[in-house]
Amino acid sequence: MITTLLGGLSPRQFLEEYWQKKPLLVRQALPGFNGLLSRDELFDLACDPDVESRWVRHDGERWEVEHGPQRRSRLRGKRVPWTVLVQGVNLWLPEGDRLLHSFDFIPQARLDDLMVSYAVDGGGVGPHFDNYDVFLLQGIGKRRWRIGDQKDHNLVEGAPLRILKDFRPIHDWVLEPGDLLYLPPHWAHDGIAQGECMTYSIGFRTPTAQELGAEFLGWLQERVCLDSVYADPDLTLQENSALISEAMVDQVGAMLQAIRWDRSMVADFLGEYLTEPKAHVFFDPPDEPLSAAGFARRLEKAGFALDARSILLFRGARFFINGEALDAPAALHPALAELAHRRRLAPAGGHPPALAELLYDWYLAGFGHPPE
Ligand code: SIN
Ligand code: CO
Repeated sequence: MITTLLGGLSPRQFLEEYWQKKPLLVRQALPGFNGLLSRDELFDLACDPDVESRWVRHDGERWEVEHGPQRRSRLRGKRVPWTVLVQGVNLWLPEGDRLLHSFDFIPQARLDDLMVSYAVDGGGVGPHFDNYDVFLLQGIGKRRWRIGDQKDHNLVEGAPLRILKDFRPIHDWVLEPGDLLYLPPHWAHDGIAQGECMTYSIGFRTPTAQELGAEFLGWLQERVCLDSVYADPDLTLQENSALISEAMVDQVGAMLQAIRWDRSMVADFLGEYLTEPKAHVFFDPPDEPLSAAGFARRLEKAGFALDARSILLFRGARFFINGEALDAPAALHPALAELAHRRRLAPAGGHPPALAELLYDWYLAGFGHPPE
């Protein structure tokens, strides 16, 4: 980990004292940081139909929001303050992926994405609160952050984005390039650009029980096997043929009681759910793939790097990559666990041949490649 990132705190201290508890401002968390991409590169992403983005403008009275892909013509002008926010920059930019993973003192299973915003002077998305933790890292330019821990979360009615009705900040800080602000969920905040600026948000997932439940039920549907069939050999004559009988409700209730799951199914669901690529993510298989033997030689010499879009997690012997589960032979665990943690495997000889075979499959699917 970069030693300045938490301003002298160890990751353990950060977790104990700040994570999900209180904000932390770190001046010069990344000294010399002035961004990973230029304004124009960010605009190219914002105009790409495969990339999720929002454009927000505020004329002092009315808020306007436009979801991507953005039109170039929108990304001009300074008279009325505006901002454009691009989600999932880590998926398209290896440097973004690396930045995200400098925060891996928080488990990757909690990570969501890297969002990058650009704003003209006065631009921002207004005072609001989020349901997730976020590290706000200042790129080029300056942004004034006001934050507060108010319990009043009432929102302006009818606005196209979530704006707090009555924002009462208790801290007021101007962040400069390389400064970092950690905010726990539900802290009210408002970031206003002072001159042109770009901000990098490292965001985390906080799924609700409702979301998890809905996803899990969908997952379970393909795995449960309910093999009984409704039967009523003792059917008695009903006075009214339209009545749903209590006997029928009892029998169906008993049939549904057969829907069961255990801890290993919950773990499998989690692994697949957390590594499932987002809707518009596709992998690019290599145009002119190496042969299996050529790949094994490159693996020894150069190692292997996961593609920025790949997510690899594991639990015990079960590995999950991009929504798929696999049981890896024990001999492969150390290398795969290392690859999952560091997102890279250093060049080394003597890997078991099964490792080269598995990574070759991943390489052909576009999940990763030996670094150039
Ligand atoms: C930003 O404007 O870059 C951050 C948006 C936010 O406060 O969530
Ligand atoms: Co926010």
